[in-house]
Amino acid sequence: MMTILGRAMGDRVDWQSGRMDGAGVQRSVKTVGELAGVFADEAARSGMDAARVVYAVEWTEPVAAGTEGGLFWGATRLEAGCVGDEYFMTRGHFHAVRDRGEFYGTVSGEGMLVLMEEDGATRVERMVPGSLHYIPGRVAHRTVNTGAEAMVFWACWPSDAGHDYAAIAARGFGLRVMRGDGSPRVVEA
Ligand code: F6R
Ligand code: MN
Repeated sequence: MMTILGRAMGDRVDWQSGRMDGAGVQRSVKTVGELAGVFADEAARSGMDAARVVYAVEWTEPVAAGTEGGLFWGATRLEAGCVGDEYFMTRGHFHAVRDRGEFYGTVSGEGMLVLMEEDGATRVERMVPGSLHYIPGRVAHRTVNTGAEAMVFWACWPSDAGHDYAAIAARGFGLRVMRGDGSPRVVEA
């Protein structure tokens, strides 16, 4: 005899592609045109096709944003490409509620997770299929695709974390990841 213990939420995930399906799924896309000021070479960025997609995020919010104690779940698909010599990357952010942490888990592609403490100290972790990354609270995070294919990773973060993009717009990260001869170069910003 089978006992039904509970009902899963209606949303579905496709692990490999990072696509989600269901009534609660939200989607956000960032194009080259929407990323002014993010890359070092602004002239190169403004000369590119503004409609070209850099990354897309699909996620579900099973409770209202701002709810203490809840979790959000989603995936980012970060395309392969460069702006000048700098690899495609996300804007990056601190959580608005600073002490909120997050998990990232990579399913495909290769890249780097750039992590910055509040005092500006910045480090990177390699992202490869299967790599699991714990992002502690008070640490800004940005992902960079250093490969030739799209990089896909899943994330889980607190529903009251929020996103502070302004702090990054003001001062950036301490390191940038650039196309090098054969392998990526991590340089001081
Ligand atoms: C959520 C989170 C990710 C990012 C996504 C896009 O807290 O860290 O879902 O939001 O990878 O990056 P941003 O938000 O920096 O544009
Ligand atoms: Mn985050």
